[in-house]
Amino acid sequence: MKNIYSNIYSFNKKTLKKTVNFLNHGNIAALPTETVYGLAGNAYSRKAINKIFRLKKRPKKNPLIVHYNDFRNAKNDVILNKNFFKLYKKFCPGPITFVLKKTKKTQITPVVTAGLNTVAIRFPKNKIIKSTLTSIKFPLAMPSANKSSSLSPVTAFDVFEEFKNKIDIIINGGKSKIGIESTVIDLSGKPKILRPGIISSNEIKKILKVSFSKQKSKIKSPGMMKKHYSPGIPIIIGAKSINKKYASIVFGKKYKKRTNFFNLSKKADLKEAASNLYKIMREIKKKGYKKIFVSNIPNKGPGIAINDRLKRAAQ
Ligand code: TXA
Ligand code: MG
Repeated sequence: MKNIYSNIYSFNKKTLKKTVNFLNHGNIAALPTETVYGLAGNAYSRKAINKIFRLKKRPKKNPLIVHYNDFRNAKNDVILNKNFFKLYKKFCPGPITFVLKKTKKTQITPVVTAGLNTVAIRFPKNKIIKSTLTSIKFPLAMPSANKSSSLSPVTAFDVFEEFKNKIDIIINGGKSKIGIESTVIDLSGKPKILRPGIISSNEIKKILKVSFSKQKSKIKSPGMMKKHYSPGIPIIIGAKSINKKYASIVFGKKYKKRTNFFNLSKKADLKEAASNLYKIMREIKKKGYKKIFVSNIPNKGPGIAINDRLKRAAQ
């Protein structure tokens, strides 16, 4: 029988070489990171970036995050400021993205930034993406490896489900540890959180003053667009399903085991809950449930990021 997952590869010297070769030629590859899997392409190549937008069916006005191995490699492309260094020291490499002003001599192709004068940059921690970044001479633009507005993938098989054989190479790095996308913080002016993540505003507040960007103001981060992160079935927040035909996402130990109940974290650990969120929503969809009810999740720490994704998924 033919292996349908013929484009999923395990990570080793040979597949690293293959990936690097692809990237060097303006092609794209799906790679694991500690947050979610990404669709990677040379951030300096218009050809590569256009491919990413086409595959994802992503609106051209939604800019991509550029990934580097080290801040020294980013100096040419973005203006690194004091606030950046404060957060970099504490959180990098890790699940945080910084929006900074572009330099005049930047090599980043304008499609990446949707014509904005800022760039979002990130320094991922996952070993596979790090060794890929150290083996190439350019940064990687890398959105989550899903079709625009659907759920971010947390395994190589999730990526396959999204794109089938339309991607030549998917590197299998196991399940993404964190399981939701990075915290995005705008440092181009007064620090503002554009997208909550596992690194919470309280953690950031220990280092610098920061506020949440107001939803009503014009969309600063298009990832803040209303419908996003959607499993493609209706989601009802703040309720529990009483009908066996519908799935319930619950949190904490008070819930008994039922076939249609999916617990984000039995021990009521918000980090664990975040890491299970997309995995569980994908599983529910696959099992054929027609609706998802979600019981209340505490709105603190990683819970803020979970509720943010749920709200958008429910739009
Ligand atoms: O964890 C992550 O950040 C993952 C992994 C693969 O690194 N990537 C990811 O990329 O989530 P994506 O494209 O799905 O989300 C990028 C977010 C979007 O909300 C986008 O609008 C925002 O970052 N963004 C990118 N450039 C921006 C900019 N210059 N100004 C404001 N927001 C920006
Ligand atoms: Mg995304």
